Amino acid sequence: MTTTTSTYRNLQIERTGAVTVLRVNRPDVLNALNRETLSEIEDAGRAFVADAEQGALIVTGAGEKSFISGADINELAVLGPAAAEEISRFGQRVLDVLENAPKPVIAAVNGYAFGGGCELALACHMRLASENAVLGLPEVSLGIIPGYGGTQRLARLVGQGRALELMLSAGRVKADEAFRLGLVNRVVPREQLLDEAMKLAQAILKNGPLAVAAVIEAVQRGLQMPLEAGLRLESSLFGILAASEDMHEGLNAFLEKRPARFQRR
Ligand code: COA
Repeated sequence: MTTTTSTYRNLQIERTGAVTVLRVNRPDVLNALNRETLSEIEDAGRAFVADAEQGALIVTGAGEKSFISGADINELAVLGPAAAEEISRFGQRVLDVLENAPKPVIAAVNGYAFGGGCELALACHMRLASENAVLGLPEVSLGIIPGYGGTQRLARLVGQGRALELMLSAGRVKADEAFRLGLVNRVVPREQLLDEAMKLAQAILKNGPLAVAAVIEAVQRGLQMPLEAGLRLESSLFGILAASEDMHEGLNAFLEKRPARFQRR
């Protein structure tokens, strides 16, 4: 069953079973992120995390053409130094909510994903792109730099050399090139993008939710640690899961040749 809520001015939220679809919806500016929209994403992201009924989040853009065209340049144009630093910290905090979610967050990149839009996709756990998607961090062409985590996350995802080339040249890459760079997981026909994202979410939802959360934590936190500390984190999470009913259910279900019934405990 699908329910749609419209409590936000710039977002559409749709829930189908345990999957939430968040659509950024500012058609006049190709879904650019102004402060209000960022604030709404923070709120919707926190609501998703807190909702025990919801297991996966898909983030996409409304319309045919654009995922998110970037930070709203109208707002950037009037910033002084203190306000610029503050909006950067704010944007980073909002995207951290998505990245730190203990449930999968999938970006369905359905068109332009520039600047803050590309940064938002980078903060998601996985990225699918439609064939018409174009991604890039073109901030230097505006005399600014990526400020919502892009300098850090892009380099971690695709490596230093590729990240620097993309950012320093203000390059914009089409979906197939983004795939080649490792910027997106997969490219699919435009009309199948949401279905493919939904299929991926459903495939993940079949698995033990505590184990899914533990993998996300091990990878996301582990990437910020030296290998030895990451391996310790992995072992700790492995040990913690052994205290869960779900672990016993998963293993016993296999041995008894039946589907597992996970209870998130
Ligand atoms: N912030 C504010 N407004 C934006 C915007 C942004 N990031 N991106 C697009 N818009 C606005 C345009 O100003 C235009 O408004 P108008 O109709 O009042 O003139 C409207 O959205 C449509 O954009 P337009 O440029 O006419 O569409 P297009 O299809 O020709 O080009 C883009 C689309 C995305 C290639 C182009 O708009 C663009 O380069 N945008 C900026 C991308 C960017 O640098 N993002 C990083 C910001 S830090």
